[in-house]
Amino acid sequence: MAEKMSDPRELFLHELGDLLYAEKLLVKTLPKLAQEATDDELRSGFEEHAEQTKQHVANLEEAFKAIGEPAKAEKCPGIEGIKKEHDEFVSQESPTPDILNGFLTGAAARTEHYEIAAYEGAITMAKAMGESEAAGFLEQNLKQEQETLQKVNTIAKRLAQEAAKQVKASV
Ligand SMILES: [Fe+2]
Ligand SMILES: [Fe+2]
Repeated sequence: MAEKMSDPRELFLHELGDLLYAEKLLVKTLPKLAQEATDDELRSGFEEHAEQTKQHVANLEEAFKAIGEPAKAEKCPGIEGIKKEHDEFVSQESPTPDILNGFLTGAAARTEHYEIAAYEGAITMAKAMGESEAAGFLEQNLKQEQETLQKVNTIAKRLAQEAAKQVKASV
């Protein structure tokens, strides 16, 4: 068994590494989701957030630098799980474009909530340890995740309303 982790700073480093892994995976995944989306607002939202996500990686690397540690990614099964859920849904359900757009907004909202929770936790730890410079970089990312979640929620509402109209029309 591995040696027991007892230093809170190591936990903080783990959380930063977990976020770095997640953001790097998202840099690769978001452009693919943009290609899958047939709703213009959803597609451009994924494209815009893919660009922001490159900056999230850079900000995390700056946060590591600010605390004098090498940037090291830690495998994050949480974000991989959200991706796996997407991959299985697409292969098992063969959704129509409209259904896929609806599914993608749900996957996007889950991802943003996951990131928001992780950044909030890491910021709390950074501040408690007096690492205000690192906290500042993490707060930049948190703000964009929160703004993205709001946009996703607005799109999800519109798509759900459009879908509900279709259901009514076909009754
Ligand atoms: Fe992010
Ligand atoms: Fe995000």
